[in-house]
Amino acid sequence: MVDFRRYTVSIDYDRRLYKQDIVGSMAHAKMLAKQGIISQEDSDKITQGLKSIELEIIEETFPWDPTLEDLHMNIERRLHDLIGAAAGRLHTARSRNDQVALDLRLYTKTTIVDLVRGLRGVQSALVDLADKYSGVVMPGYTHVQRAQPILFPHHMLAYFEMFQRDVGRFEDCYKRTDVMPLGSGALAGVAYQTDREFLAAELGFSRISANSMDAVSDRDFVVEFLAAASTCMMHLSRLSEELVLWSSGEFGFIRLTDEFTTGSSIMPQKRNPDFAELARGKTGRVYGDLMGMLTTLKGLPLTYNRDMQEDKEGFFDAADTLATTLDVFKAMLPGMQLNEVRVSSLAGESQMLATDLADYLVGKGMPFREAHGIMRQLSRRCDDDNVSLQELPLAEYKKMSDLFTEDVYDITAESSAAARDNYGGTAPARVAAALQEAKKVLETTDNGF
Ligand code: ARG
Repeated sequence: MVDFRRYTVSIDYDRRLYKQDIVGSMAHAKMLAKQGIISQEDSDKITQGLKSIELEIIEETFPWDPTLEDLHMNIERRLHDLIGAAAGRLHTARSRNDQVALDLRLYTKTTIVDLVRGLRGVQSALVDLADKYSGVVMPGYTHVQRAQPILFPHHMLAYFEMFQRDVGRFEDCYKRTDVMPLGSGALAGVAYQTDREFLAAELGFSRISANSMDAVSDRDFVVEFLAAASTCMMHLSRLSEELVLWSSGEFGFIRLTDEFTTGSSIMPQKRNPDFAELARGKTGRVYGDLMGMLTTLKGLPLTYNRDMQEDKEGFFDAADTLATTLDVFKAMLPGMQLNEVRVSSLAGESQMLATDLADYLVGKGMPFREAHGIMRQLSRRCDDDNVSLQELPLAEYKKMSDLFTEDVYDITAESSAAARDNYGGTAPARVAAALQEAKKVLETTDNGF
């Protein structure tokens, strides 16, 4: 016989919320006693019982029972076995609907704090790389075509900015998660004089929910969490893509350590960047978690519907995937070796300096469009004849414009980068200042919220 009840069981995954569930129940019991809704004696028994349960779970002696469906019922039944009738008073003025909302909010809050710490770790690895190779000029790309010389630290700090926005998104999500739902009951509130503010203070929430119906049916915080996680994974995936490209023979820009590459079973020369590839690949599943949650919620009428039990697996999956990906990057980036000789020689390749040569003409009074046209023709010629702009004799330049003089050969990758001396640009002084700024951000952040 097929056991169809199994279909409704969530204990295999919602047991991860046990700490939050126990902490929430302890605060609830304390509040019930304070309000005279249950006796102090019963409240103390409940607290003692919950402490034993927590220990049993940690020591893996807790008798999980799938026929009891979920975490809440498992703990309540065990409490009854341990302390008897008093256990039955814990669920006064509470429903599993506000209870599970509370548990998931508490869990989301600590998860956000952990993830932000992980993000800080990746940011500081980027800052260290920027520091290590602070003077290196490399090609910057658009359309995966070499475009203009940039400083390697400028490239690293671009990712620092992305992760800085991710931190902001998680902090933002935290604010809307930080709302205490207990007291909403099943949907309409509870018929007891509970003290919701007391509960919020006990459980470390800064606000209480304003509408009981909304409070038990709201999973926006999960959606926001998953959206922030997806965006962060997208950034990690873009970084992964660059690591994959850069470590290819064609680019030859970087070398990753053996720990973060694997060989092929048949091709001995291979150093596959599997970790970066998997990070790129796992981004897809985190997007899937977000889409799953949005889709689950879209047709639900108020208030709690059992569909909402489906909020947890995707949440845990996304949180775990992002956390381990951040750990991997924090460990992988410090070992990344940049081939300074190769990137700086490519940065000096003449065609990359075409914009600078146009700017050179502009500096001598020519309108930019005209200068752009001249350089376009000269670049084409170089392409056709397979020579570099530096190899082109001055006479050839002169044919295009009299403004060209001997100093045209002074333009280098370094002078090109140095010329981008505006706020946000790649000039060494600007990048050094940005690096200082980034370090300050890392030193002054409080990751405890
Ligand atoms: N296991 C349920 C969930 O995760 C808990 C709430 C159940 N509430 C109910 N009325 N059946 O959503």
